[in-house]
Amino acid sequence: MASLYERVVLPKILTWACSQNPILRQRQKVVPAAEGRVLELGVGMGYNLRHYDPEKVTSITGIDPSPELRAIASRAERDPRLEVRVEDATAEALPFDDASFDSVVCTYTLCSVCTPMAALSEARRVLKPGGRFLFCEHGLSPDPGVAKWQRRIDPVWSKLLGGCHINRPVRGALEAAGFRTEQVETMYLPKMPRIAAWNEWGAARP
Ligand SMILES: C[S@@+](CC[C@H](N)C(=O)[O-])C[C@H]1O[C@@H](n2cnc3c(N)ncnc32)[C@H](O)[C@@H]1O
Repeated sequence: MASLYERVVLPKILTWACSQNPILRQRQKVVPAAEGRVLELGVGMGYNLRHYDPEKVTSITGIDPSPELRAIASRAERDPRLEVRVEDATAEALPFDDASFDSVVCTYTLCSVCTPMAALSEARRVLKPGGRFLFCEHGLSPDPGVAKWQRRIDPVWSKLLGGCHINRPVRGALEAAGFRTEQVETMYLPKMPRIAAWNEWGAARP
């Protein structure tokens, strides 16, 4: 049973954090590229749903283990032409057939899953050959001075923010999981503490 903090306070913190303007702008750089049958890992509050292109997407399945966040996602703004399902699942154990999605979308979720390698392996399994993994994640900074503070603060940060880690590699993890990354861009998002601001986004193929 989730604690009162996880059920009541954490959804409010995540709703605030994930709707900051620099983060909303990042979503627009990634999500409109999704096409065909789409799986979104850790759909959260559903902030990406408004950015899918109904001309390119045939259906969206969003999974998330949090019932509180799934309820918010179910009410989130989206184009009425989009067919959206929100399901209870974890990225590490996807209840879907092999090669069943054209796009897997993952924004600010690899920071929070228990086992990123298992989640990426599952994403590869469910992607069709030629499908794309579209991602935007915050993670381990390439600057040693920032990375040092990320490692120091991460134990407290992850406890307060529902298991979100600030010191996980992004592109390196994708490549270690067997993805071929393409079009990867990086930057520190503005108006945020640098330990949480390093972002990597782009596309990868299994
Ligand atoms: C920082 S929030 C981001 C939400 C959303 N992806 C977004 O971009 O706004 C992290 C999300 O990961 C979800 N999550 C945590 N563990 C997960 C897991 N094992 N599998 C899938 N999602 C998970 C959380 O419930 C939460 O919705």
